[in-house]
Amino acid sequence: MVPWSPALAKQRGIYGFDSIDSRSRSFNLIRAKLLDYRRDRQWRMIGVVSATPNVGKSFISANVAASLSRDPRLQTYAVDLDLRRGSLTDSFGLNPANSLRDYLEGAPGADRPAAFGLEGESLVVMPTVPGLVHSAELLAGVRAQTLFREMRASDERNFFILDMPPVFANDDASTTVARLDAYVVVAEEGRTKTREVRDAIALLGENRLAGVIMNKYRGGLLSEGYGVDDYYSAGYGVTRDGGDK
Ligand SMILES: Nc1ncnc2c1ncn2[C@@H]1O[C@H](COP(=O)(O)OP(=O)(O)OP(=O)(O)O)[C@@H](O)[C@H]1O
Ligand SMILES: [Mg+2]
Repeated sequence: MVPWSPALAKQRGIYGFDSIDSRSRSFNLIRAKLLDYRRDRQWRMIGVVSATPNVGKSFISANVAASLSRDPRLQTYAVDLDLRRGSLTDSFGLNPANSLRDYLEGAPGADRPAAFGLEGESLVVMPTVPGLVHSAELLAGVRAQTLFREMRASDERNFFILDMPPVFANDDASTTVARLDAYVVVAEEGRTKTREVRDAIALLGENRLAGVIMNKYRGGLLSEGYGVDDYYSAGYGVTRDGGDK
């Protein structure tokens, strides 16, 4: 068990555990959508991807997983599959001796991927200590196949949110999404181009698309997909233009 508390969660930008916090609202909406898909299509292995780096995939993975973990019908796992730039170790303050990457590499002593429970919460985190690796090969390798197979065969209460690298960085995301049930695409308001989202969906296949999430979304009408506010601004009471709210 890793030391954890509601205060620590918020300090680390994870609001999804607290249903009363208004900042958890968008994650709860995404959770509701994923639960619909779980009921209708039995989807429970969901990858979180983007077209380009740094749009908030890991932030959204952690928060959606936190939100899902409050559902007593589920056992939720947050799995870091970004083997080169994984950041869930930082988000949850973990320091694993053997991370998922060691397991996939077949490192001595790493016969199981490390999994951490958080004190007071029911979320389980499977972190990766990032490094320079042939990640596409590792994710296509025997151990990765075993891991995905075990996830699929595991208790039907289990729900997996898998944080991934950007689709166009290398082959990792497309190799992996093919083994999952579905994926969500994270886009950043004002930065990600519609064409980039379309290209990502064309690559990964529309039939597995569970939704598009617009991060740092600043209001207005969103006809398709989900918006997540910019919480730095929200936290400090200023808009991104610098003015007071
Ligand atoms: N809506 C948001 N409000 C506040 N902070 C955010 C938001 N979205 C992302 N961030 C912050 O922006 C930074 C980049 O986000 P994050 O690491 O989640 O992106 P990423 O898409 O996973 O990046 P990478 O491509 O490197 O994996 C982090 O410090 C994260 O906490
Ligand atoms: Mg990330």
